[in-house]
Amino acid sequence: MALILGLESSCDDSAVALVTSDRRIVAQRVVGQNSAHAPFGGVVPEIAARAHVDVLPGLVAEVLEEAGITVGEVDAIAATAGPGLIGGVMVGLLTGKGLALASGKPLLAINHLEGHALSPRLVDPALGFPYLLLLASGGHCQLLEVRGVGDYRRLGTTIDDAAGEAFDKAAKLLGLPYPGGPAMEELAAGGDPKAVPLPRPLIGSAEPHFSFAGLKSAVQRAVAAGIHRPEDVAASFQQAVVDCMVDRTRLALRMSDAPALVVAGGVAANGAIRSALASLAEGEGRAFSVPPGWLCTDNAAMIAWAGAERFSSGLVDGLDAPARARWPL
Ligand code: KG4
Ligand code: ZN
Repeated sequence: MALILGLESSCDDSAVALVTSDRRIVAQRVVGQNSAHAPFGGVVPEIAARAHVDVLPGLVAEVLEEAGITVGEVDAIAATAGPGLIGGVMVGLLTGKGLALASGKPLLAINHLEGHALSPRLVDPALGFPYLLLLASGGHCQLLEVRGVGDYRRLGTTIDDAAGEAFDKAAKLLGLPYPGGPAMEELAAGGDPKAVPLPRPLIGSAEPHFSFAGLKSAVQRAVAAGIHRPEDVAASFQQAVVDCMVDRTRLALRMSDAPALVVAGGVAANGAIRSALASLAEGEGRAFSVPPGWLCTDNAAMIAWAGAERFSSGLVDGLDAPARARWPL
């Protein structure tokens, strides 16, 4: 059994967790920065990086204290090394390197996407490889066949905006606060999803890619027209995203013989998206699983867990591991 300390700082959440290779979350903390970025309607990279500097070391101390151990008692230190906002990635990775250097324990430089991709296995011991993962967050929208630790086949990705980014931009057009996803879902609940005609970009195309930029522009025109109720715009937008996700994920499922569909990332918190994908999986004869909400959004337990999976496979990194703004799986 290995005990891994994980650090996450690639976007606007500072997070630290202690996780064991037998799936026990010993302690964890997540500190978000929504109020710092809300006045700007999106994440401001430098504000995020400075906040990680302020917060991350204190979270490490708290987590170790809660577990009643020192850093010398962990087996390895896992830190997100990308992809993400480079300032924040550098803060977390360098914090991890400092801890590794001081304690003499190995460093695991984790790809944030691998953290999301392996996270369902932290809470679902029965979930074996392979599975098809729809990863939909503020920064990503990808369909991945997860075949093993370090073995991923990317079937589709967004050619422009990520799904969460589309929610955030559409929400901003409707005057809703950042992050827009939860506010859009709430507003959509009182609206008619058929009221506003909106496009379904790439539906029916031969590769399971996504595109959301055109949908955002259509929302912009619908809002500017001034003839629709905001709740109808929100409901119609959400329905368009659901339709795109179902169509693209169906295609990917048909390209893969993975027995299970898993959805992760902040957008997986959306009830309409979850239930549409659950029905899709059922119709395609696949099992369906969504990690709990706290594990879908950015957190360090998933980074520590990806570290545990890599450590168990004998994979460690040197102290020269680079911080990467871009790092496809
Ligand atoms: O995974 P996450 O916490 O951070 C990133 O790695 O990006 O995802 C945050 C994104 C934001 O764009 C947010 O608006 C979106 O997830 N989101 C939602 C919902 N809750 C969060 N989108 C749609 N419906 C929701 N209920
Ligand atoms: Zn993420």
